[in-house]
Amino acid sequence: MESAVHQAGSKEFAHRPVLAEETPRELVWKADGLYVDATFGRGGHTRRILARLSPAGRLFAFDRDPEAVAAAASIVDPRFRIIHTPFSRMSGELAARGVAPGSVSGIMMDIGVSSPQIDDASRGFSFRSDGPLDMRMDTSCGMTAAQWLAGVKEQELAETISRYGEERYARRIARAIVAERAKAPVDTTFRLASIVEGAVPRSRSDSAQHPATRTFQAIRIRINGELDELSEALRQAGELLAPGGRLAVISFHSLEDRIVKRFFEAAEHPEREVDPRLPLRQSDLPSPLFERVRRIRPGEAECAANPRARSATLRVGERSAEPWRDPEKVLGGGR
Ligand SMILES: C[S@@+](CC[C@H](N)C(=O)[O-])C[C@H]1O[C@@H](n2cnc3c(N)ncnc32)[C@H](O)[C@@H]1O
Repeated sequence: MESAVHQAGSKEFAHRPVLAEETPRELVWKADGLYVDATFGRGGHTRRILARLSPAGRLFAFDRDPEAVAAAASIVDPRFRIIHTPFSRMSGELAARGVAPGSVSGIMMDIGVSSPQIDDASRGFSFRSDGPLDMRMDTSCGMTAAQWLAGVKEQELAETISRYGEERYARRIARAIVAERAKAPVDTTFRLASIVEGAVPRSRSDSAQHPATRTFQAIRIRINGELDELSEALRQAGELLAPGGRLAVISFHSLEDRIVKRFFEAAEHPEREVDPRLPLRQSDLPSPLFERVRRIRPGEAECAANPRARSATLRVGERSAEPWRDPEKVLGGGR
């Protein structure tokens, strides 16, 4: 399978898109429609979406990573625009470009980090190579992981590692980091990885997963506000899509997929959100906001060729004609 290679300065990294054929096929139902790729990365999905559009089609892409935005310069196509901003601001950015709510034909998100972000040691995402502990997707603003670790309270650190890493040894790891930072800053990936390794029981260090995997995931999610970004972007996507418009979201771990699944469930079956004790007739029940919601997983061949694909789940839904409302706020309901 093809993967896109782009140079950022003297660095060259590739990203192989997951579900590269399935996602554009599910997304594009109207060749002259307006589409959004909320996570440009290296443009693997963007290129395939453009290939399905007519000359009148349009595609806006977003990425918060300046290197991804620089890589987008290689796409010279009057139908295409890249916007450097977090996708939680897509409504405002699109409105500023004349795109009204209820007018978009399809929105896709391929969430998480890209291979170029992981593979470049200077970005600080990986415990496999030594580099500064940065972990920001947008290197032009915000706090690095090293800066955050220098000041965070032990309790908050433990909660973050537990919640976003689903790490059972979160307390021990937080305690070890706080003890070590009193001696010297925790500002490189190898230093953080070795502190975590020393804090978890040996039996765990022997397992197939590196002992620092969950802690790195948790800190990355916290630094980039990833789950809040996702929830907000889903809500805005619901508002932006036209009747029949498609929302396609690829997620790579259960924390993300839970949010996407829950969003679609509430939007497709609002009647399940209603307090059953309310004396309501069928006709009083709220109508679905999304229809034909489906889940697609990569096939065996793709998983064999690209190990990243193994944890990917694509969920797709079609927007109904029902005016948009918050899917989790219905008559007396809301879990
Ligand atoms: C998995 S990669 C996408 C790869 C892309 N589909 C391709 O084929 O090349 C995820 C990308 O989304 C970007 N990203 C993640 N969260 C974001 C957010 N909240 N706002 C904007 N971009 C985000 C990352 O910087 C990264 O470049």
